[in-house]
Amino acid sequence: MERRISVIGAGYVGLTTAACFAELGHWVSLLEIDPERLNSLEQGVLPVHEPGLPELWKRHWAEGRLRLTSDYEQGLDGSEFAFIAVGTPSTTNGKPDLRWVRSAARSIAKAANGPIIVVNKSTVPVGTADLVAGIIARCKRNNHDLPVVSNPEFLREGWAVYDFLHPARVVVGSTDMNAAQAVAQLYEPLGCPIILCGAGTAEISKYASNAFLAARISFINEIALLCDKFGVDVADVAKVVGLESRCGDGYLGAGLGWGGSCLPKDVKGLIYMAASQRVSAPLLRSVLKVNLRQPRMVVEKLQRLLGSTQGKTVGILGLSFKPDSNDMREASSLSVIALLEEQGCQIKAYDPVAMESAAKLMPTVTYCADAYEVAKGSDAIILVTDWDEFKELDMRRICSLMKCPILIDGRNFYDPEEMTQAGFIYEGVGRGGISRRTLEVALAKREVQPELQAVESIQS
Ligand SMILES: NC(=O)c1ccc[n+]([C@@H]2O[C@H](COP(=O)([O-])OP(=O)(O)OC[C@H]3O[C@@H](n4cnc5c(N)ncnc54)[C@H](O)[C@@H]3O)[C@@H](O)[C@H]2O)c1
Repeated sequence: MERRISVIGAGYVGLTTAACFAELGHWVSLLEIDPERLNSLEQGVLPVHEPGLPELWKRHWAEGRLRLTSDYEQGLDGSEFAFIAVGTPSTTNGKPDLRWVRSAARSIAKAANGPIIVVNKSTVPVGTADLVAGIIARCKRNNHDLPVVSNPEFLREGWAVYDFLHPARVVVGSTDMNAAQAVAQLYEPLGCPIILCGAGTAEISKYASNAFLAARISFINEIALLCDKFGVDVADVAKVVGLESRCGDGYLGAGLGWGGSCLPKDVKGLIYMAASQRVSAPLLRSVLKVNLRQPRMVVEKLQRLLGSTQGKTVGILGLSFKPDSNDMREASSLSVIALLEEQGCQIKAYDPVAMESAAKLMPTVTYCADAYEVAKGSDAIILVTDWDEFKELDMRRICSLMKCPILIDGRNFYDPEEMTQAGFIYEGVGRGGISRRTLEVALAKREVQPELQAVESIQS
């Protein structure tokens, strides 16, 4: 059955939710308050990079299934559902900042001219459904029923459309079971398990899922540290662990750690929630601590190889927090580049889609047209984001363009053997430090330059 749905907030989640509900045959109006975002969407330019989203957007916009407005009365007119998909970033102490959720709830209450089910899709702490219900009760202009449902979103950036349309599960929490059932029905065509529960269960489940994913990555990064010391490849260890059905193989990639708009803020949000209940949460604190260590640890690898990094030119491949996304929120590149710049390095960088957003945050970086330009004259390269297109690079050419052929693979993306054969002094994360032998082979393949001799003397 075709329904009328409003989605509040045209970010990664809002745009995907709107386009996917249109794809499921509903009529969707998207409410956005940022004039720049609205303007770009009206021109057909999506502010986020998500595979498959532009195609859906274009098709349903042309069919009139998708509408766009900043006017709540217009946007909510005739809507049966209002999905809140606004940002909930961390404040300095990790507390989720709910000001946009509160403001959206107020605007819905003031503009609703009929019954609407208000759905929290934003990631929000336990108690937010009650908070939103309270705001609505205070601000609504008439007696229409505006029940509140919690329906957290689990999509991954870079896979947003796929994940929305192929979810592992959908969680719908509320004290109003009729409203929860109505929301659940919207997802029935997706054929996935739908969990009906209390709002608190839905709210904390989202944090628990993200914290668990973050914990897995931090765990394997701790193991990687040991593997580096013992000369063992952590990827082999992760494979062994992952083949055990009780463990599973996801999120066991060692490297620069997790970033983005969700895992960091949700781990911090959960720690904050724990503290608010006087629960100390030592495991969650360690998960965060291990992650904060990773960029420094990768930069230290470079220092060990180069000796002093002062005045060196370091090339960065990949800037976004993950491939297939232009999102720079809590991207590892930010910490890695800040650490290198502190040490007096010049930074050259390339990313397939995130350079525009990166330039606003890191104006001192030299942004290059491609990876080859990054390599030209660089003393080292650090691979920060594992974009598929970096697998297609002519690595021999990259190596030959560099002043010193050091490749630090922050995502264990390349085959160490192949990189050594291409002439690199290669080091990943948890794949063993560079051995004397590897270094000698790499050096022998190149004309020995003063920088390389310096490297050799550091190693001996
Ligand atoms: N990004 C992800 O991968 C992801 C995945 C799952 C869940 N989430 C959660 O979903 C929520 C949204 O995340 P996002 O990354 O899409 O956020 P975002 O910051 O990309 O987008 C939020 C949008 O909401 C708009 N907005 C803010 N207040 C508004 C209001 N009152 N009315 C209308 N528009 C308003 C902003 O201008 C912005 O365009 C967050 O709680 C996040 O934790 C995000």
